[in-house]
Amino acid sequence: MKKLAILCALALSLSGCSAAPSKKTYSIGVAVYDGSDTFISSICDTLSSEAEKDGIHVSITDAGRSQLNENDQVNDLIDDGADILCINLVDRSATSTIINAAMDKNIPVIFFNREPVQSDLTRWEKLYYVGADAEESGRLQGQIAANWLATHPEADRNQDGIIQYYILEGEPGHQDTIIRSETAVSTLDEAGISLEKAGYAICDWQRDEAYDKTSQLIKDGTYIELLLCNNDEMAAGAVQAYDDAGISMDMRPAIAGIDGTKEGISLVNSGKIIGTVYNNYKDQAEKIYQLADALMNNKSLQDLNLQDGHSYYSSYQKITPDNVSSFLGQ
Ligand code: BGC
Repeated sequence: MKKLAILCALALSLSGCSAAPSKKTYSIGVAVYDGSDTFISSICDTLSSEAEKDGIHVSITDAGRSQLNENDQVNDLIDDGADILCINLVDRSATSTIINAAMDKNIPVIFFNREPVQSDLTRWEKLYYVGADAEESGRLQGQIAANWLATHPEADRNQDGIIQYYILEGEPGHQDTIIRSETAVSTLDEAGISLEKAGYAICDWQRDEAYDKTSQLIKDGTYIELLLCNNDEMAAGAVQAYDDAGISMDMRPAIAGIDGTKEGISLVNSGKIIGTVYNNYKDQAEKIYQLADALMNNKSLQDLNLQDGHSYYSSYQKITPDNVSSFLGQ
């Protein structure tokens, strides 16, 4: 990896650095919790292509959901010459090893998507966070569901005036899991919808787990009118389970997702889910790169819209049948 970084740097200097004459060449080390996560891959792909345009080298490691692996991989990235680290933690409460290693070598760290607690983020002035506001995503998902229920009285299939809902949740401990679930439900409640919780299942953001869980719910005959999913991957797993069980649309719960992945958008478009909430991966990836670039080139961070000078929260947007056409082809 070190050789690769040196080769990249050499290639740039041999070409007369024509790509970015006034900029310093540096190397970005990215560590992700799970390289197969659809949303995280979108961020990494955009970040890499943005950096590539400037001839900046990006190395990406995949922790396979183990914090111990990630700690080792971050040490390797540092040994291989990373000048800045972009970290998608496995366990957002386990920052100390990585922060200590970075502080030791004076390497700035941009955490992304999995938010460290504030007391960790304020340990050193070269720590940053790029993500999105979990509460906003839960609120928008709740609004999508409330609006759907208000305009589709048939969604209350047993006509008892109460909506039986079930939640497919991401990993426990992830800020987006806890806050999205709570806020979606409180938003529905505030909109005056009578609710009854039919249950919840932890599906770790994963489609396969959601597929298995939903298939089990169908087998058990669990009665559900609204299925809130913490992300689109899990919504897609649930849709697949209903499809495979041959259950017609009028006998399924209304399903809502979050992320606005390609597949999520296409499920809204085909009417299989009632909506999703766009988690702007492009904006987040671009912000990570702009921040890295500013830090590496000693530029001002003034224009980056950072909260408290250290954190950036991208805005979410609702995607429903009304506006889905403007998201197709994203
Ligand atoms: C996304 C999920 C993703 C998770 C990974 C969340 O913000 O909505 O799709 O799996 O981050 O940390």
